[in-house]
Amino acid sequence: MHDHANPLSMSPEEFRRLAHAVVDWIADYRQGLASRPVVSNVPPGSVRAQLPSTPPTEPEGFGAVLDDLDRTIAPALSHWQHPRFFAYFPSNSDLAAVLGDFLSTGLGVLGLAWQSAPALTEVEEVAVDWLRQMTGLSPAWSGVIQDTASTGTLVALLCARERASGHGAATRGLQHAGPPLTVYASREAHSSVAKAALLAGFGRDHLRLVGVDADRAMDPRALQAALEADAAAGRRPCAIVATTGTTTTTAMDPVDACADLAAAHGAWLHVDAAMAGSAAILPECRHLWHGIERADSIVTNPHKWLGASFDCSVYFVRDEQHLVRVMSTNPSYLRTAVDDQVRNYRDWGIALGRRFRALKLWSLIRTHGTARLQARLRRDLANARWFADQVRGLPPWRVLAPVALQTVCVRHEPPGLAGEALDRHTLAWVDRLHQSGAAWVTPAQLDGRWFVRVSIGALPTERADVAALWQAMQRAVG
Ligand SMILES: Cc1ncc(COP(=O)(O)O)c(C=O)c1O
Repeated sequence: MHDHANPLSMSPEEFRRLAHAVVDWIADYRQGLASRPVVSNVPPGSVRAQLPSTPPTEPEGFGAVLDDLDRTIAPALSHWQHPRFFAYFPSNSDLAAVLGDFLSTGLGVLGLAWQSAPALTEVEEVAVDWLRQMTGLSPAWSGVIQDTASTGTLVALLCARERASGHGAATRGLQHAGPPLTVYASREAHSSVAKAALLAGFGRDHLRLVGVDADRAMDPRALQAALEADAAAGRRPCAIVATTGTTTTTAMDPVDACADLAAAHGAWLHVDAAMAGSAAILPECRHLWHGIERADSIVTNPHKWLGASFDCSVYFVRDEQHLVRVMSTNPSYLRTAVDDQVRNYRDWGIALGRRFRALKLWSLIRTHGTARLQARLRRDLANARWFADQVRGLPPWRVLAPVALQTVCVRHEPPGLAGEALDRHTLAWVDRLHQSGAAWVTPAQLDGRWFVRVSIGALPTERADVAALWQAMQRAVG
Protein backbone atom coordinates (compact mmCIF):
# COMPACT_ATOMS: atom_id res chain seq x y z
CA MET A 1 0.00 0.00 0.00
CA HIS A 2 1.16 3.53 -0.73
CA ASP A 3 1.12 6.01 2.07
CA HIS A 4 -1.52 8.47 0.94
CA ALA A 5 -0.90 10.79 3.86
CA ASN A 6 2.35 12.13 2.41
CA PRO A 7 2.34 15.66 3.80
CA LEU A 8 4.77 16.91 1.13
CA SER A 9 2.33 16.80 -1.78
CA MET A 10 -1.42 16.66 -2.33
CA SER A 11 -2.72 13.17 -1.65
CA PRO A 12 -5.02 11.47 -4.15
CA GLU A 13 -7.79 11.53 -1.53
CA GLU A 14 -7.48 15.26 -1.01
CA PHE A 15 -7.32 15.68 -4.78
CA ARG A 16 -10.51 13.66 -5.19
CA ARG A 17 -12.39 16.00 -2.87
CA LEU A 18 -10.96 19.22 -4.28
CA ALA A 19 -11.26 18.17 -7.91
CA HIS A 20 -15.00 17.69 -7.40
CA ALA A 21 -15.15 21.25 -6.13
CA VAL A 22 -13.17 22.48 -9.13
CA VAL A 23 -15.37 20.64 -11.59
CA ASP A 24 -18.46 22.07 -9.87
CA TRP A 25 -16.88 25.51 -10.06
CA ILE A 26 -16.26 25.17 -13.81
CA ALA A 27 -19.74 23.79 -14.48
CA ASP A 28 -21.33 26.66 -12.50
CA TYR A 29 -19.12 29.15 -14.30
CA ARG A 30 -20.15 27.89 -17.73
CA GLN A 31 -23.81 27.72 -16.72
CA GLY A 32 -23.82 31.22 -15.31
CA LEU A 33 -21.76 32.94 -17.99
CA ALA A 34 -24.68 34.65 -19.70
CA SER A 35 -25.35 36.76 -16.62
CA ARG A 36 -21.78 38.09 -16.43
CA PRO A 37 -20.62 41.10 -18.44
CA VAL A 38 -18.63 39.76 -21.39
CA VAL A 39 -15.76 42.23 -21.26
CA SER A 40 -13.80 43.00 -18.15
CA ASN A 41 -13.43 46.69 -17.40
CA VAL A 42 -10.90 46.39 -14.57
CA PRO A 43 -8.07 48.92 -14.63
CA PRO A 44 -4.50 47.73 -15.25
CA GLY A 45 -2.74 46.52 -12.12
CA SER A 46 -5.92 45.97 -10.12
CA VAL A 47 -5.54 42.18 -10.00
CA ARG A 48 -1.92 42.38 -8.90
CA ALA A 49 -2.87 44.84 -6.18
CA GLN A 50 -5.29 42.31 -4.66
CA LEU A 51 -2.79 39.45 -4.53
CA PRO A 52 -0.02 38.94 -1.97
CA SER A 53 3.25 40.18 -3.43
CA THR A 54 5.31 37.48 -1.73
CA PRO A 55 4.74 33.71 -1.74
CA PRO A 56 3.38 32.05 1.41
CA THR A 57 5.94 30.27 3.53
CA GLU A 58 3.40 28.04 5.22
CA PRO A 59 0.70 26.01 3.43
CA GLU A 60 -2.50 27.93 2.82
CA GLY A 61 -4.40 25.06 1.26
CA PHE A 62 -6.21 24.92 -2.05
CA GLY A 63 -9.16 26.73 -0.53
CA ALA A 64 -7.11 29.92 -0.81
CA VAL A 65 -6.87 29.39 -4.56
CA LEU A 66 -10.63 28.96 -4.91
CA ASP A 67 -11.13 32.14 -2.88
CA ASP A 68 -8.77 34.02 -5.20
CA LEU A 69 -10.69 32.66 -8.15
CA ASP A 70 -14.05 33.90 -6.87
CA ARG A 71 -12.93 37.19 -5.41
CA THR A 72 -10.18 38.39 -7.70
CA ILE A 73 -9.64 36.33 -10.82
CA ALA A 74 -13.05 35.57 -12.32
CA PRO A 75 -14.30 39.18 -11.95
CA ALA A 76 -11.22 40.36 -13.85
CA LEU A 77 -11.67 38.16 -16.90
CA SER A 78 -13.23 38.79 -20.26
CA HIS A 79 -15.13 35.66 -21.04
CA TRP A 80 -14.25 33.76 -24.20
CA GLN A 81 -16.87 31.06 -23.65
CA HIS A 82 -19.65 33.61 -23.16
CA PRO A 83 -22.67 33.38 -25.50
CA ARG A 84 -22.14 37.01 -26.55
CA PHE A 85 -18.41 36.69 -27.24
CA PHE A 86 -17.93 37.95 -30.80
CA ALA A 87 -14.30 39.08 -30.52
CA TYR A 88 -11.12 37.84 -32.23
CA PHE A 89 -12.05 34.26 -33.20
CA PRO A 90 -14.01 31.56 -31.41
CA SER A 91 -11.51 29.73 -29.24
CA ASN A 92 -14.08 27.21 -28.19
CA SER A 93 -13.27 25.13 -25.22
CA ASP A 94 -15.81 22.35 -25.41
CA LEU A 95 -16.20 20.70 -22.03
CA ALA A 96 -15.40 17.34 -23.64
CA ALA A 97 -12.01 18.78 -24.59
CA VAL A 98 -11.65 20.27 -21.10
CA LEU A 99 -12.03 16.77 -19.67
CA GLY A 100 -9.41 15.45 -22.10
CA ASP A 101 -7.05 18.24 -21.09
CA PHE A 102 -7.72 17.56 -17.43
CA LEU A 103 -6.86 13.89 -17.96
CA SER A 104 -3.70 14.84 -19.80
CA THR A 105 -2.54 16.94 -16.88
CA GLY A 106 -3.63 14.34 -14.38
CA LEU A 107 -1.62 11.66 -16.12
CA GLY A 108 1.42 13.92 -16.04
CA VAL A 109 3.28 11.95 -18.71
CA LEU A 110 5.74 13.37 -21.21
CA GLY A 111 6.49 12.35 -24.76
CA LEU A 112 10.24 12.72 -25.15
CA ALA A 113 10.46 9.58 -27.23
CA TRP A 114 7.79 7.08 -28.25
CA GLN A 115 9.02 4.86 -25.43
CA SER A 116 8.61 7.54 -22.78
CA ALA A 117 4.81 7.26 -23.13
CA PRO A 118 3.85 5.05 -26.10
CA ALA A 119 0.12 5.82 -26.02
CA LEU A 120 0.82 9.55 -26.02
CA THR A 121 2.37 9.23 -29.47
CA GLU A 122 -0.06 6.72 -30.87
CA VAL A 123 -3.21 8.51 -29.72
CA GLU A 124 -1.78 11.65 -31.33
CA GLU A 125 -1.16 9.73 -34.56
CA VAL A 126 -4.76 8.52 -34.55
CA ALA A 127 -6.30 11.86 -33.52
CA VAL A 128 -4.51 13.86 -36.21
CA ASP A 129 -5.35 11.20 -38.77
CA TRP A 130 -9.01 11.45 -37.74
CA LEU A 131 -8.75 15.19 -38.31
CA ARG A 132 -7.15 14.59 -41.70
CA GLN A 133 -10.05 12.38 -42.71
CA MET A 134 -12.65 14.75 -41.31
CA THR A 135 -11.21 17.65 -43.32
CA GLY A 136 -11.12 15.65 -46.55
CA LEU A 137 -7.34 15.53 -46.91
CA SER A 138 -5.81 12.55 -48.71
CA PRO A 139 -3.71 9.90 -46.92
CA ALA A 140 -0.60 11.61 -48.33
CA TRP A 141 -0.66 13.95 -45.31
CA SER A 142 0.82 13.21 -41.90
CA GLY A 143 0.06 15.39 -38.92
CA VAL A 144 1.57 16.47 -35.64
CA ILE A 145 0.15 18.63 -32.87
CA GLN A 146 1.94 21.91 -32.20
CA ASP A 147 1.08 24.56 -29.68
CA THR A 148 0.01 27.27 -32.12
CA ALA A 149 -0.19 28.16 -35.80
CA SER A 150 2.73 30.53 -35.28
CA THR A 151 4.93 27.54 -34.48
CA GLY A 152 3.55 25.54 -37.40
CA THR A 153 4.34 28.34 -39.83
CA LEU A 154 7.85 28.74 -38.40
CA VAL A 155 8.43 25.00 -38.87
CA ALA A 156 7.13 25.27 -42.45
CA LEU A 157 9.50 28.10 -43.31
CA LEU A 158 12.45 26.27 -41.74
CA CYS A 159 11.60 23.23 -43.89
CA ALA A 160 11.25 25.42 -46.97
CA ARG A 161 14.61 27.06 -46.27
CA GLU A 162 16.35 23.71 -45.89
CA ARG A 163 14.79 22.29 -49.04
CA ALA A 164 15.85 25.31 -51.08
CA SER A 165 19.35 25.39 -49.62
CA GLY A 166 19.93 21.63 -49.82
CA HIS A 167 20.23 21.67 -46.01
CA GLY A 168 22.97 24.26 -46.45
CA ALA A 169 21.42 26.90 -44.20
CA ALA A 170 21.38 24.34 -41.41
CA THR A 171 25.04 23.48 -41.82
CA ARG A 172 26.56 26.84 -42.66
CA GLY A 173 23.97 28.97 -40.89
CA LEU A 174 24.19 32.67 -41.56
CA GLN A 175 27.31 32.05 -43.67
CA HIS A 176 25.17 30.16 -46.20
CA ALA A 177 26.51 31.47 -49.50
CA GLY A 178 23.67 30.70 -51.91
CA PRO A 179 21.39 33.29 -53.51
CA PRO A 180 19.10 35.19 -51.12
CA LEU A 181 15.96 33.18 -50.40
CA THR A 182 12.61 35.01 -50.59
CA VAL A 183 9.21 34.42 -48.96
CA TYR A 184 5.79 35.53 -50.19
CA ALA A 185 2.47 36.08 -48.45
CA SER A 186 -0.38 38.50 -48.99
CA ARG A 187 -0.42 41.79 -47.16
CA GLU A 188 -3.46 40.46 -45.30
CA ALA A 189 -1.47 37.49 -43.94
CA HIS A 190 -1.23 37.09 -40.16
CA SER A 191 1.72 38.69 -38.41
CA SER A 192 2.93 35.20 -37.48
CA VAL A 193 4.07 34.75 -41.11
CA ALA A 194 6.36 37.78 -40.98
CA LYS A 195 7.58 36.70 -37.54
CA ALA A 196 8.36 33.20 -38.81
CA ALA A 197 10.23 34.60 -41.83
CA LEU A 198 12.35 36.76 -39.55
CA LEU A 199 12.99 33.98 -37.03
CA ALA A 200 13.92 31.56 -39.81
CA GLY A 201 16.58 34.01 -40.94
CA PHE A 202 15.16 35.16 -44.28
CA GLY A 203 15.38 38.81 -43.27
CA ARG A 204 12.72 41.46 -43.66
CA ASP A 205 14.26 42.53 -46.98
CA HIS A 206 13.37 39.13 -48.43
CA LEU A 207 9.75 38.99 -47.31
CA ARG A 208 7.24 40.12 -49.96
CA LEU A 209 3.76 41.06 -48.80
CA VAL A 210 1.94 41.00 -52.11
CA GLY A 211 -1.23 42.82 -53.10
CA VAL A 212 -4.78 41.56 -52.79
CA ASP A 213 -7.88 41.66 -54.98
CA ALA A 214 -11.18 43.36 -54.23
CA ASP A 215 -12.10 40.49 -51.89
CA ARG A 216 -8.76 40.88 -50.06
CA ALA A 217 -7.46 37.54 -51.27
CA MET A 218 -3.90 37.33 -52.59
CA ASP A 219 -3.81 38.50 -56.19
CA PRO A 220 -2.00 35.76 -58.17
CA ARG A 221 -0.84 38.29 -60.77
CA ALA A 222 0.83 40.37 -58.07
CA LEU A 223 2.38 37.19 -56.69
CA GLN A 224 3.64 36.17 -60.11
CA ALA A 225 5.14 39.62 -60.70
CA ALA A 226 6.95 39.51 -57.34
CA LEU A 227 8.29 36.00 -58.00
CA GLU A 228 9.51 36.91 -61.46
CA ALA A 229 11.15 40.12 -60.28
CA ASP A 230 13.08 38.25 -57.60
CA ALA A 231 14.11 35.44 -59.93
CA ALA A 232 15.28 37.98 -62.54
CA ALA A 233 17.35 39.74 -59.88
CA GLY A 234 19.15 36.50 -58.93
CA ARG A 235 17.16 35.79 -55.76
CA ARG A 236 15.63 32.39 -55.11
CA PRO A 237 11.87 32.21 -54.41
CA CYS A 238 11.72 29.82 -51.49
CA ALA A 239 8.26 29.76 -49.92
CA ILE A 240 4.73 30.99 -50.59
CA VAL A 241 2.33 31.20 -47.67
CA ALA A 242 -1.31 31.19 -48.75
CA THR A 243 -3.86 32.07 -46.11
CA THR A 244 -7.28 30.47 -46.28
CA GLY A 245 -9.29 32.61 -43.93
CA THR A 246 -7.33 35.79 -43.20
CA THR A 247 -7.54 37.13 -39.70
CA THR A 248 -9.19 40.43 -40.55
CA THR A 249 -11.88 39.39 -43.04
CA THR A 250 -11.55 35.58 -43.61
CA ALA A 251 -10.45 36.20 -47.20
CA MET A 252 -9.39 33.07 -49.07
CA ASP A 253 -6.13 33.18 -51.00
CA PRO A 254 -6.39 31.07 -54.19
CA VAL A 255 -4.46 27.95 -53.19
CA ASP A 256 -4.59 26.40 -56.65
CA ALA A 257 -3.12 29.46 -58.39
CA CYS A 258 -0.47 29.72 -55.64
CA ALA A 259 0.38 26.05 -56.23
CA ASP A 260 0.89 26.72 -59.96
CA LEU A 261 3.32 29.51 -59.15
CA ALA A 262 5.06 27.52 -56.42
CA ALA A 263 5.59 24.67 -58.89
CA ALA A 264 6.88 27.02 -61.58
CA HIS A 265 9.48 28.49 -59.19
CA GLY A 266 10.28 25.39 -57.14
CA ALA A 267 8.97 27.11 -54.01
CA TRP A 268 7.41 25.53 -50.92
CA LEU A 269 3.69 26.13 -50.54
CA HIS A 270 2.48 26.48 -46.96
CA VAL A 271 -1.22 27.05 -46.25
CA ASP A 272 -2.19 28.96 -43.13
CA ALA A 273 -5.69 27.65 -42.46
CA ALA A 274 -5.55 28.55 -38.79
CA MET A 275 -9.28 28.97 -38.44
CA ALA A 276 -10.73 28.01 -41.80
CA GLY A 277 -9.21 24.55 -41.51
CA SER A 278 -11.98 23.78 -39.03
CA ALA A 279 -14.55 24.67 -41.70
CA ALA A 280 -13.10 21.93 -43.90
CA ILE A 281 -14.99 19.36 -41.83
CA LEU A 282 -17.96 20.65 -43.87
CA PRO A 283 -17.82 19.24 -47.41
CA GLU A 284 -19.65 22.36 -48.64
CA CYS A 285 -16.74 24.55 -47.45
CA ARG A 286 -13.87 22.58 -48.99
CA HIS A 287 -13.97 24.55 -52.22
CA LEU A 288 -12.52 27.41 -50.15
CA TRP A 289 -9.12 25.70 -50.13
CA HIS A 290 -9.37 24.16 -53.58
CA GLY A 291 -5.91 22.94 -54.60
CA ILE A 292 -4.89 22.07 -51.04
CA GLU A 293 -3.50 18.69 -52.11
CA ARG A 294 -0.78 20.54 -54.01
CA ALA A 295 0.57 22.28 -50.90
CA ASP A 296 3.65 21.10 -48.99
CA SER A 297 2.34 21.92 -45.53
CA ILE A 298 -0.81 23.12 -43.79
CA VAL A 299 -1.46 24.50 -40.37
CA THR A 300 -4.92 24.38 -38.86
CA ASN A 301 -6.02 25.16 -35.30
CA PRO A 302 -8.63 22.88 -33.77
CA HIS A 303 -8.44 25.43 -30.93
CA LYS A 304 -10.14 27.85 -33.29
CA TRP A 305 -13.86 27.13 -33.65
CA LEU A 306 -13.62 23.32 -33.74
CA GLY A 307 -13.77 23.09 -29.95
CA ALA A 308 -10.39 21.76 -28.78
CA SER A 309 -9.37 23.97 -25.88
CA PHE A 310 -6.37 26.20 -26.49
CA ASP A 311 -3.67 25.24 -27.28
CA CYS A 312 -4.04 22.69 -30.04
CA SER A 313 -2.72 23.37 -33.52
CA VAL A 314 -2.17 20.67 -36.13
CA TYR A 315 0.65 20.84 -38.67
CA PHE A 316 0.20 18.59 -41.70
CA VAL A 317 3.09 17.73 -44.03
CA ARG A 318 3.39 15.67 -47.16
CA ASP A 319 7.08 14.84 -46.82
CA GLU A 320 7.51 13.73 -43.24
CA GLN A 321 11.06 12.52 -43.85
CA HIS A 322 12.16 15.97 -44.85
CA LEU A 323 10.53 17.41 -41.72
CA VAL A 324 12.32 14.89 -39.54
CA ARG A 325 15.64 15.58 -41.23
CA VAL A 326 15.25 19.30 -40.54
CA MET A 327 14.09 18.89 -36.95
CA SER A 328 15.94 15.85 -35.68
CA THR A 329 18.92 16.06 -33.33
CA ASN A 330 18.99 12.52 -31.96
CA PRO A 331 21.21 12.73 -28.87
CA SER A 332 22.28 9.40 -27.35
CA TYR A 333 20.23 9.80 -24.17
CA LEU A 334 17.00 9.91 -26.19
CA ARG A 335 17.73 6.98 -28.51
CA THR A 336 15.81 3.73 -28.07
CA ALA A 337 15.86 0.30 -29.65
CA VAL A 338 12.55 0.85 -31.45
CA ASP A 339 13.35 4.20 -33.07
CA ASP A 340 13.11 2.77 -36.57
CA GLN A 341 9.60 1.42 -35.91
CA VAL A 342 7.95 4.43 -34.29
CA ARG A 343 7.29 8.14 -34.59
CA ASN A 344 9.34 10.29 -32.30
CA TYR A 345 7.36 13.49 -32.39
CA ARG A 346 10.24 15.48 -30.91
CA ASP A 347 11.65 15.30 -34.45
CA TRP A 348 8.49 16.83 -35.92
CA GLY A 349 8.78 20.25 -34.35
CA ILE A 350 10.75 22.54 -32.10
CA ALA A 351 9.99 21.42 -28.56
CA LEU A 352 11.50 18.26 -27.13
CA GLY A 353 8.97 17.65 -24.37
CA ARG A 354 5.42 16.98 -25.51
CA ARG A 355 2.37 16.93 -23.34
CA PHE A 356 -0.59 14.73 -24.04
CA ARG A 357 -2.42 17.41 -26.04
CA ALA A 358 -3.89 14.75 -28.28
CA LEU A 359 -6.24 13.71 -25.48
CA LYS A 360 -8.33 16.84 -25.78
CA LEU A 361 -8.67 16.54 -29.55
CA TRP A 362 -9.43 12.85 -29.22
CA SER A 363 -11.99 13.48 -26.45
CA LEU A 364 -13.65 16.18 -28.52
CA ILE A 365 -13.99 14.07 -31.64
CA ARG A 366 -14.90 10.89 -29.82
CA THR A 367 -17.51 12.55 -27.65
CA HIS A 368 -19.30 14.47 -30.38
CA GLY A 369 -18.55 12.61 -33.59
CA THR A 370 -18.12 14.46 -36.86
CA ALA A 371 -21.86 14.96 -37.26
CA ARG A 372 -22.38 17.03 -34.12
CA LEU A 373 -19.30 19.15 -34.78
CA GLN A 374 -20.57 19.78 -38.30
CA ALA A 375 -24.00 20.74 -37.00
CA ARG A 376 -22.50 23.35 -34.68
CA LEU A 377 -20.35 24.90 -37.41
CA ARG A 378 -23.35 25.00 -39.74
CA ARG A 379 -25.37 26.75 -37.04
CA ASP A 380 -22.65 29.41 -36.78
CA LEU A 381 -22.43 29.86 -40.55
CA ALA A 382 -26.20 30.32 -40.74
CA ASN A 383 -26.08 32.85 -37.88
CA ALA A 384 -23.36 34.81 -39.69
CA ARG A 385 -25.41 34.91 -42.90
CA TRP A 386 -28.50 36.00 -40.97
CA PHE A 387 -26.56 38.73 -39.18
CA ALA A 388 -25.01 40.00 -42.43
CA ASP A 389 -28.50 40.17 -43.95
CA GLN A 390 -29.76 42.29 -41.04
CA VAL A 391 -26.82 44.67 -41.38
CA ARG A 392 -27.22 45.00 -45.15
CA GLY A 393 -30.91 45.66 -44.72
CA LEU A 394 -30.42 48.68 -42.47
CA PRO A 395 -28.30 51.44 -44.04
CA PRO A 396 -26.17 53.27 -43.15
CA TRP A 397 -24.85 50.02 -41.69
CA ARG A 398 -22.62 48.24 -44.19
CA VAL A 399 -21.01 44.83 -44.60
CA LEU A 400 -17.48 45.52 -45.84
CA ALA A 401 -16.20 42.14 -47.02
CA PRO A 402 -17.55 38.84 -48.33
CA VAL A 403 -18.83 36.61 -45.54
CA ALA A 404 -16.91 33.46 -46.37
CA LEU A 405 -17.36 31.87 -42.95
CA GLN A 406 -18.53 33.12 -39.57
CA THR A 407 -16.87 36.55 -39.47
CA VAL A 408 -18.83 39.62 -40.52
CA CYS A 409 -17.03 42.94 -41.06
CA VAL A 410 -19.33 45.88 -40.45
CA ARG A 411 -19.34 49.65 -40.20
CA HIS A 412 -22.00 52.20 -39.38
CA GLU A 413 -21.52 55.05 -41.84
CA PRO A 414 -23.83 57.97 -41.10
CA PRO A 415 -24.13 60.36 -44.06
CA GLY A 416 -21.56 63.13 -43.90
CA LEU A 417 -19.13 61.20 -41.69
CA ALA A 418 -15.86 60.12 -43.30
CA GLY A 419 -12.17 59.77 -42.55
CA GLU A 420 -11.11 60.42 -38.99
CA ALA A 421 -14.56 61.55 -37.94
CA LEU A 422 -15.93 58.18 -39.03
CA ASP A 423 -13.10 56.46 -37.15
CA ARG A 424 -14.00 58.36 -33.99
CA HIS A 425 -17.66 57.39 -34.41
CA THR A 426 -16.74 53.71 -34.86
CA LEU A 427 -14.41 53.54 -31.88
CA ALA A 428 -16.89 55.44 -29.71
CA TRP A 429 -19.81 53.11 -30.38
CA VAL A 430 -17.64 50.04 -29.86
CA ASP A 431 -16.54 51.48 -26.56
CA ARG A 432 -20.16 52.08 -25.53
CA LEU A 433 -21.03 48.52 -26.56
CA HIS A 434 -18.20 47.12 -24.47
CA GLN A 435 -18.97 49.36 -21.50
CA SER A 436 -22.54 48.08 -21.57
CA GLY A 437 -21.22 44.56 -21.08
CA ALA A 438 -23.71 43.34 -23.68
CA ALA A 439 -21.24 41.89 -26.16
CA TRP A 440 -17.60 41.83 -27.15
CA VAL A 441 -16.46 42.56 -30.70
CA THR A 442 -13.10 43.51 -32.23
CA PRO A 443 -12.36 46.84 -33.88
CA ALA A 444 -9.79 46.47 -36.66
CA GLN A 445 -8.56 48.44 -39.63
CA LEU A 446 -9.12 47.99 -43.35
CA ASP A 447 -7.26 50.37 -45.64
CA GLY A 448 -6.32 52.40 -42.59
CA ARG A 449 -9.91 52.96 -41.43
CA TRP A 450 -11.59 51.40 -38.38
CA PHE A 451 -14.43 48.95 -38.70
CA VAL A 452 -15.78 46.18 -36.50
CA ARG A 453 -15.27 42.45 -36.81
CA VAL A 454 -18.08 40.32 -35.52
CA SER A 455 -16.81 36.77 -35.17
CA ILE A 456 -19.62 34.33 -34.47
CA GLY A 457 -19.14 30.86 -33.07
CA ALA A 458 -18.78 30.63 -29.31
CA LEU A 459 -20.22 27.29 -28.19
CA PRO A 460 -23.38 28.64 -26.52
CA THR A 461 -24.06 31.39 -29.10
CA GLU A 462 -27.52 30.95 -30.57
CA ARG A 463 -29.54 33.12 -32.96
CA ALA A 464 -31.05 34.99 -29.99
CA ASP A 465 -27.56 36.04 -28.86
CA VAL A 466 -26.71 37.32 -32.33
CA ALA A 467 -30.01 39.20 -32.38
CA ALA A 468 -29.17 40.67 -28.95
CA LEU A 469 -25.80 41.79 -30.29
CA TRP A 470 -27.48 43.45 -33.26
CA GLN A 471 -29.89 45.31 -30.96
CA ALA A 472 -27.04 46.37 -28.69
CA MET A 473 -25.04 47.67 -31.68
CA GLN A 474 -27.99 49.77 -32.79
CA ARG A 475 -28.37 51.18 -29.29
CA ALA A 476 -24.63 51.88 -29.16
CA VAL A 477 -24.65 54.03 -32.31
CA GLY A 478 -27.71 55.92 -31.13
C1 LIG B 1 -4.86 33.29 -40.17
C2 LIG B 1 -4.16 33.16 -38.85
N1 LIG B 1 -2.95 32.62 -38.79
C3 LIG B 1 -2.28 32.49 -37.64
C4 LIG B 1 -2.81 32.90 -36.45
C5 LIG B 1 -2.02 32.74 -35.20
O1 LIG B 1 -2.53 31.71 -34.45
P1 LIG B 1 -1.77 31.13 -33.16
O2 LIG B 1 -2.23 31.96 -32.00
O3 LIG B 1 -2.25 29.72 -33.09
O4 LIG B 1 -0.32 31.24 -33.40
C6 LIG B 1 -4.09 33.47 -36.44
C7 LIG B 1 -4.67 33.92 -35.17
O5 LIG B 1 -5.57 34.67 -35.06
C8 LIG B 1 -4.77 33.61 -37.67
O6 LIG B 1 -5.99 34.16 -37.72
